[in-house]
Amino acid sequence: MNELLRRLLFLPRQGTAFARELDHLHFLVISVTVVGATGVAMVGALFLFKYRRRTKVVPVTPRVVVSGRVEAAVITATLALFVGFWVLGFRQYRRLADPPTGALTIYVAAKQWMWEFSYPNGPASAGILTVPAGRPVELLMTSRDVIHSFYVPEFRVKQDVVPGRYTTIWFTPSEPGSYQILCAEYCGAGHSTMRGEVVALSGEDYERWLQGTSRPTDGEADPTSLATVGRRVAAERGCLRCHTLDGTAYIGPSFAGLLGRRERLASGASVLVTPGYVTKSMMDPQADVVAGFKSVMPSYQGLITAGETAAIVELLHSLEDVPRQPEQQVFPEVTGRGAPDGGR
Ligand code: CUA
Repeated sequence: MNELLRRLLFLPRQGTAFARELDHLHFLVISVTVVGATGVAMVGALFLFKYRRRTKVVPVTPRVVVSGRVEAAVITATLALFVGFWVLGFRQYRRLADPPTGALTIYVAAKQWMWEFSYPNGPASAGILTVPAGRPVELLMTSRDVIHSFYVPEFRVKQDVVPGRYTTIWFTPSEPGSYQILCAEYCGAGHSTMRGEVVALSGEDYERWLQGTSRPTDGEADPTSLATVGRRVAAERGCLRCHTLDGTAYIGPSFAGLLGRRERLASGASVLVTPGYVTKSMMDPQADVVAGFKSVMPSYQGLITAGETAAIVELLHSLEDVPRQPEQQVFPEVTGRGAPDGGR
């Protein structure tokens, strides 16, 4: 049935479990609409025939009074249908908005007219996004110039990629294979050539690919120790002057146990700390300041590379289970202790 409807509607194959789910909603809406429209058309045709004029004299049309009950029932049923569609769609939207924990984070930079991918462990590639099949992959995307849109029809995911902002999207390729990436936002003369490819590899093939492409970073040849790279980057870039790694609050919130936490913001809103939020905070620290902290952080936009950003996010991942102390901003005394040392 699924396959029949998919072909009937000219939809590409379903590369993720989410694609299947989304298609089911699509099929439901289409079927209800087709059945409804056919019903209305058939009743119309029936009435045309049944109430055709049979005499030369125009008869007086009797006044038809519909009972309030029938009318209420029809309105309620229609409304329920719409609300039902909305609830199903909203649930899928929520699922798409919240990447599962443990997703592999890959940074995407779009520019006229290509896609660039940076992996947590160093390698970068243009045009081809290599991912493991069966594991959730989260993309943190930004644009270097104009608005683009990351679109993989077979995954049924599409997300605008905006300059100066980070947007996220995630998917879990069901099986190894290759899937087309398109740009779905008109972005200039080369828009139609702005294509790419998702190559999903089996677990072992992916590991082998990773071993083959990772470039050693300053003696840290082990590509799995990206958190170590993140620790070095955080120290070099000055992050550790304000953020500790042991769970105590300092000038900024501690990096420990930060990812996955719900933080209250100075604005009163609350936010789930995701790699997207962390990245945004690095690029635009004034935007969403955690309550209890003064906004003193400079922007790192353009100062750190996508790979370094990924490494810091990975460092935070490695500290997810470290317990935290109560949140309170601490300012060092002028003559007192200096920056907390980063290695703790
Ligand atoms: Cu990039 Cu269209």
